[in-house]
Amino acid sequence: MALVTSKKMFETAYKGGFAVGAFNVNNMEQLQAIVEACQAEQAPLILQISRGARKYANIAYLKALIDTAVKQSGNLPIVMHLDHGDTFETCKQCVDDGFTSVMIDASHDPFEKNVEVTSKVVEYAHKHGVVVEAEIGQLGGIEEDVVGVTGDDVMKHVTDPAEAERFVKATKCDSLAVACGTSHGAYKFKTEPKLAFNVLEEVAKRLPGFPLVMHGSSSVPKEFTDLINKYGGNMPNSMGVPEEALTRASKMAVCKINIDTDLRLASTAAIRKVFAEKPAEFDPRNYLGPARDAMREMVRHKLHVLGCAGKASVCV
Ligand code: G3H
Ligand code: 13P
Ligand code: ZN
Repeated sequence: MALVTSKKMFETAYKGGFAVGAFNVNNMEQLQAIVEACQAEQAPLILQISRGARKYANIAYLKALIDTAVKQSGNLPIVMHLDHGDTFETCKQCVDDGFTSVMIDASHDPFEKNVEVTSKVVEYAHKHGVVVEAEIGQLGGIEEDVVGVTGDDVMKHVTDPAEAERFVKATKCDSLAVACGTSHGAYKFKTEPKLAFNVLEEVAKRLPGFPLVMHGSSSVPKEFTDLINKYGGNMPNSMGVPEEALTRASKMAVCKINIDTDLRLASTAAIRKVFAEKPAEFDPRNYLGPARDAMREMVRHKLHVLGCAGKASVCV
């Protein structure tokens, strides 16, 4: 199957009460781990590429790797998505490069400016058969080079549901990232994790059937930060979104859940373990291989948390 847009995936996910996992890709091992996991679990898949990933890997390499993965993966529906596009030009470039979905994140701009930039991206993308995710409200943590709010302040910046409704109607975007208390990275909460499910409910009431997106959805499993710390790392006081909260959101209007940090943790833990236990090791295959295995198992697990395992065939 060729790359697809997320249109059918989101329609099915909305009705079926599950969310599609969107995993960040920067290199071959990560891509193989994610695609193999989705094949094993027969799950639909969104591969997302940040501007940082484009810079690190060169989009020509990533596109060739993804085209190969698509060929290798039989009937699996796969979306190639730009994560946190910052300008019209970046989004346009990605549409031209063959992405099937782009995110324009102008959430740091005032409302009217966000509407203006998003509408321009929507117009260009739709003309080329590409879908658009937009964002309103402020996510915490580091978004590419935009430093967001952190820690407990995150709850003060949740999406205003009335604004979300006006925004979607004005821009005609295809999905919307809402701020509901999550943030990027491994340090999401200082105290007990809390999400604003009322925001998700209220937005869903105002925009029936419209797919919402949850960013910053890594759970930062203690098992992995403990391994990282045991083998020489230093990640104290990390905290993520409890997996029960992801399952709950995926049964609501949330159709796409973004996970990057958890794969970084799984691979870092695996690599640190090899280096600690075998200090003489210097063949990258012998540490990138275990990293790939760890990421594959992490993704397989997440697909069950989000409820999208076994849903590939109903998403085409
Ligand atoms: O939104 C953040 C994602 O985790 C991507 O991170 O910009 O470091 O590639 P990155
Ligand atoms: P995490 O940092 O929680 O994995 O979030 C990733 C993300 O939202 C990418 O857009
Ligand atoms: Zn994000």
